[in-house]
Amino acid sequence: MPRHRRAAKKGNVSFKHEAAFEGRVRDLTSDGRGVVSHPDGRTFFVPGLWLDEVAEIRVVGRQGKVGLGQVITLKKADPQRREVPCRHHGYSPNHCGGCPWMFMPYEAQGAAKLRRLQSTLESLGDSSTRLDGLLAAPEELGYRNRAQLKTDGSKLGYVAAGTRTLVDITDCPILTASNGETLTSLRKALPNPTWRARKQEWQTIDLDDTLKGPSLNQRLPFRQGNTQQNVVMREWLAQAIAPIPPDAPVLELFAGSGNFTEVLAAHFATVVAVEGDQSALQQLSRLVPDRVQTHALNLFSLPAVEAWISERQGIRVLVLDPPREGLKVRVPFIKQLTELEMVIYVTCDLATWARDCKDFLEQGFRLTRVTPLDLFPQTPHLEVLSVLTRA
Ligand SMILES: C[S@@+](CC[C@H](N)C(=O)[O-])C[C@H]1O[C@@H](n2cnc3c(N)ncnc32)[C@H](O)[C@@H]1O
Repeated sequence: MPRHRRAAKKGNVSFKHEAAFEGRVRDLTSDGRGVVSHPDGRTFFVPGLWLDEVAEIRVVGRQGKVGLGQVITLKKADPQRREVPCRHHGYSPNHCGGCPWMFMPYEAQGAAKLRRLQSTLESLGDSSTRLDGLLAAPEELGYRNRAQLKTDGSKLGYVAAGTRTLVDITDCPILTASNGETLTSLRKALPNPTWRARKQEWQTIDLDDTLKGPSLNQRLPFRQGNTQQNVVMREWLAQAIAPIPPDAPVLELFAGSGNFTEVLAAHFATVVAVEGDQSALQQLSRLVPDRVQTHALNLFSLPAVEAWISERQGIRVLVLDPPREGLKVRVPFIKQLTELEMVIYVTCDLATWARDCKDFLEQGFRLTRVTPLDLFPQTPHLEVLSVLTRA
């Protein structure tokens, strides 16, 4: 066995001063990096590469058992590569790593997202699943209705991927026009001593194109980041629930500020909406009719969920849109909602969604419909809207 491999097995290898190597990309990671095999068998993650490309790679570190690499020279480039429509794009600590797939045309990005979904579905092995085509974004730039900037008083921008380095950003082509204008006007205030960070490295400035101005150091309740695609998601949901009798009691988890609750309340007589963020719940209560019951609950706490669910009877439809962690506490919902007929699961994380679907499938559900939707062009992010029904 080669020396590096033996050392990696012991978990004590230092990648510093290691020789560069040439490798081909055999896969893409969920965060968009190329997966490359070292000639000695180790796996490396390398940003800025596409499937089947070949590059000379510098070894720069490790992440658990996986090596981290940087492209020195692209030896075989994908013929579809394009000129990147952003001056800040790149993978060094001086570049913004926010749009890792910007070097590929939009159609190729969509095809890669679909491939990943297809392989996840294969691992679930439900032959009854209907996979819809990708609901592509109408605008591949200028879509981002919110963003979080960071400032130390002299720079204003984003943090480079995998670093604590603040990158000064003069313009950002994925921002909506109104957010872009806010960025431009904020930059006119630089340098700004009042934005200088005191204890922490930087202050945060949140942009949201529904707000009158930027929000300094104040976390806003969750909002879907692409307004046009959010309309498509709400339409998809309205269509998915249309065949269900309006008197079926519905439970919505991770309801946020009521984006989907509004759609549910327009069809169902009884909706129970659960959310952990108090400020989101306040917005939700203002948006939906009084008959919608709202509950503040930490859905990642098993004792809290168990106590709460024991008082719920007769729920027939479950709708959920969790954060990346997925339905971490799921057994009480799967086991105790005995009258549950349908689950509508919206996910931003394929891995945790697949984990949760597996548990539903084992309890007699089928994954009947899966619709992929692109919320964030230029990134590997994929939103999936899915329906599980009790067989
Ligand atoms: C992906 S967002 C979905 C929001 C909503 N469906 C929408 O479309 O705007 C996930 C929501 O889960 C909430 N959340 C995150 N962790 C939670 C927890 N442990 N318990 C309850 N809610 C939580 C967040 O506050 C956020 O509103």
